[in-house]
Amino acid sequence: MIIIGSDHGGLTLKTALNSYLQRRGYEVSDAGTNSDSSVDYPDFGQKVAETVIKGGAELGILICGTGIGMSITANKIPGVRAALVTDVFMARMAKEHNNANILVLGGRVLDEQKACDLVGAWLDAEFEGGRHQSRLDKISALEKKYCQ
Ligand code: RB5
Repeated sequence: MIIIGSDHGGLTLKTALNSYLQRRGYEVSDAGTNSDSSVDYPDFGQKVAETVIKGGAELGILICGTGIGMSITANKIPGVRAALVTDVFMARMAKEHNNANILVLGGRVLDEQKACDLVGAWLDAEFEGGRHQSRLDKISALEKKYCQ
């Protein structure tokens, strides 16, 4: 299961990515928003991030206008590794090196084809573990120290 959420700035891309994911055979949960009305991105970032952390979805995708607000929001939740990416190399590295469990995109930054390419690169990549796992362990230690 992949959960996907956006604010109004990411709605168009969310709709396109939802179709792309379903065409690729993924089960998709849509966390909203589902209208053009202005909403607050932290509400949707929280919903997607908490669902991933609680095991309700394996992975999440978040989209706002730039992706910046969603990435700031999602990375507040301990255990989330949300990666804001703008090219295919970053999307692949987000999984191979960072094991990102949430991919973040900018709806006002990317066209639909590019966004699908980024999501595909992230989904098709595999975490390499090893030295990258020990770096993630250091991030977990920071969460333990600062996120009480
Ligand atoms: C909403 O106008 C916009 O601020 C939001 O989509 C996002 O870009 C924030 O980081």
